[in-house]
Amino acid sequence: MTYETIIADFQNGITTITINRPSKLNALNKSTIQELHDALDAANKDVNTKVIIVTGSGEKAFVAGADISEFAHFDVANGGKLAAKGQELLFDFVENLSTPVIAAVNGFALGGGLELAMACHFRVASDNAKMGLPETSLGVIPGYGGTQRLPQLVGKGRAMEMVMTAGMIDTNQALAYGLVNHVTTQEELLPLAEKIASKIMRNSSVAIKGAIKAVNANFKDGVDGYQVEIEEFGKCFGTEDFTEGTTAFLEKRKADFPGK
Ligand code: COA
Repeated sequence: MTYETIIADFQNGITTITINRPSKLNALNKSTIQELHDALDAANKDVNTKVIIVTGSGEKAFVAGADISEFAHFDVANGGKLAAKGQELLFDFVENLSTPVIAAVNGFALGGGLELAMACHFRVASDNAKMGLPETSLGVIPGYGGTQRLPQLVGKGRAMEMVMTAGMIDTNQALAYGLVNHVTTQEELLPLAEKIASKIMRNSSVAIKGAIKAVNANFKDGVDGYQVEIEEFGKCFGTEDFTEGTTAFLEKRKADFPGK
């Protein structure tokens, strides 16, 4: 499948999705959001894709936010629809995928860009990356889940400060906040993400799917995460991966998971 604003590339069990509007610092417009949805959906359904990496093209930006030129003239109703549609198509969607999604943050991750990185399952960054939610400097609030996911990741006080000041943090601060897991050079960013992906791929994809669901349940209103964990744990006992994993351990060999 070919896209206009993104590139999807499959190699060695990894689908890398690159947001590709470098002249606009990879800002997310309507078609980018739709194409990201389609590419993520396709990768998630592809049995050969074990891990998805999301990154930005060029050396300057992961994503510099939602495309401001697209919503500058919106009214109240359209503003609400913009947030609802984006959250449904992309931000909630990526968070709830059963395939692990790593954000490789290669530069500015601002507004919708940081919100996209935060919706991914975890983040690695290059040392030139700058992260922030500048929406209040534009007269709006973060609308793609930023007011919810930033406090989950960094704590309420830090999130409040970042949202109120509309400022950017560098990777030292992002590491200290726990917003990114690892920082490396720009050249080493994708190799690092791929190295982590290869560790993930050694494990049971069925178990990982259950684990993603259980971890996400911790952050869903009205859902008992412990109960979800019990259910997902129980389900594992009926999988071929469980038989293979436990048998391989007892036979002192490496597991070769069928992914079922
Ligand atoms: N929406 C639309 N276009 C954007 C954009 C966005 N969020 N972010 C950057 N661009 C465009 C610029 O308009 C410019 O386009 P042009 O060359 O046609 O004028 C191009 O990308 C390059 O950006 P520029 O501002 O010239 O780069 P810079 O290095 O001087 O500054 C930033 C980089 C990231 C600090 C600056 O682009 C910026 O503040 N962007 C907006 C960030 C933001 O508020 N995001 C939240 C949106 S809700």
